[in-house]
Order: sequence, then structure tokens, then C-alpha cells
Amino acid sequence: MLSKIDKVLISEEQIRARIAELGEELTRDYEDKNPVVVGVLKGVVVFYADMLRQIKTHCEMAFMTLRSYSGTNTTGNVEILQDLTIDIEGRHVLILEDIFDTGNSLDFTYRYLQSKNPASVKICTLLDKPSRRKPGIELKADYVGFTIDNYFVVGYGLDYDEKYRNLPFVGILKPEEYENKE
Ligand code: IMP
Ligand code: MG
Repeated sequence: MLSKIDKVLISEEQIRARIAELGEELTRDYEDKNPVVVGVLKGVVVFYADMLRQIKTHCEMAFMTLRSYSGTNTTGNVEILQDLTIDIEGRHVLILEDIFDTGNSLDFTYRYLQSKNPASVKICTLLDKPSRRKPGIELKADYVGFTIDNYFVVGYGLDYDEKYRNLPFVGILKPEEYENKE
């Protein structure tokens, strides 16, 4: 698996250090708010587990699974495959995401959660690729781990064809590994 990686973009050490910083911020901002920390499966799992342990105040775990239809790049339809199992009305909600790319899925998640009348909804994403944002999406992340250029990245939860999620760093595949795709 490692032989397929061209370059480590963000190392384990860099990820760990940044998560510790974000953890201090989130601990301060959510002290005594008992937030519901919503993860959108599956890409976020690795980041979620590490990030949650750096939020040093009470919080509740919650997950959703979405499916995006990318048939036409302009519509970006999103469907809920697995919904939350708790009521978030009046609660402070923190969305954790692996990557903020076109913004389709995050925009959908944000609007969906807002429709449940929570006290607040904020977004924390490990990676942000602002250059990929779909026109018309004004959403901004409140907490960003790393802003990256327009690379397709794998590892630390992110996949290419369901592979590489278990790499401990964020990397870029060798160009030949992208054959037959996009
Ligand atoms: P969106 O385009 O912002 O809606 O992102 C949708 C999903 O695409 C993300 O949650 C990721 O699962 C996936 N994705 C976007 N960019 C990358 C990438 O660089 N590597 C791996 N998956 C990605
Ligand atoms: Mg994802």
C-alpha cells in the first residue's frame, strides 16, 4: 500500500499537533455546553476518534451516513442513508468532517441539522480545499485543520475506491494509481 504513495502531504506528527491545538479551542468554546458531535461516515472516523479525545469537556457522539449522487456535477443530490438517533433540538451541534471539497455534502448536512432547531451548528473540518468549492456555496468552516491545494488526497480516513483509509497520514497517490478514474 505504501508503495502507491507519491508524497506525504501532512504527516502524522503534523496532524497530531494540529488536533491538539483545535482541541484547546474546542474545549474552550464548548465548555459546559455538552455539544452533540456529529460525524458524517465513513471518512471522518479516524479524525473523529482523535479529535474527540482532545475535546476535554462533556460531549455526546452522533453519526449520519449520506450518499451523494454525482451524476451531474451541478446538482449534487444528497440522500440520508442513516439518520441521527438522537433529538438535537436546543442542543449545540458540532459537525466534524474529513474534507470540505465542493461543499455539497457539508452544505446538505448543515441545512439538515439546522432544520432540527438546534441551539447552534458549527463545522470543524480536518481539510479544506476552498479552490474546489461549488459556486453558490457560501458555507464556511468554523474550525479548519489544514487548508490544502486542489490535490486528491488519501489516508487518515480518506479513500480512493475504498482503499487507503487506514494510512496514518494524508498523502497523494502516484499518478498511475488514478488510471481509469476521472
Ligand atoms: P464534497 O464535495 O465537499 O461534498 O465532499 C464529498 C466527499 O467527497 C467527502 O466527504 C469525501 O468523502 C470525498 N472527497 C472529496 N475530496 C476528496 C479527496 O481529496 N480525497 C478523498 N475523498 C475526497
Ligand atoms: Mg466524507
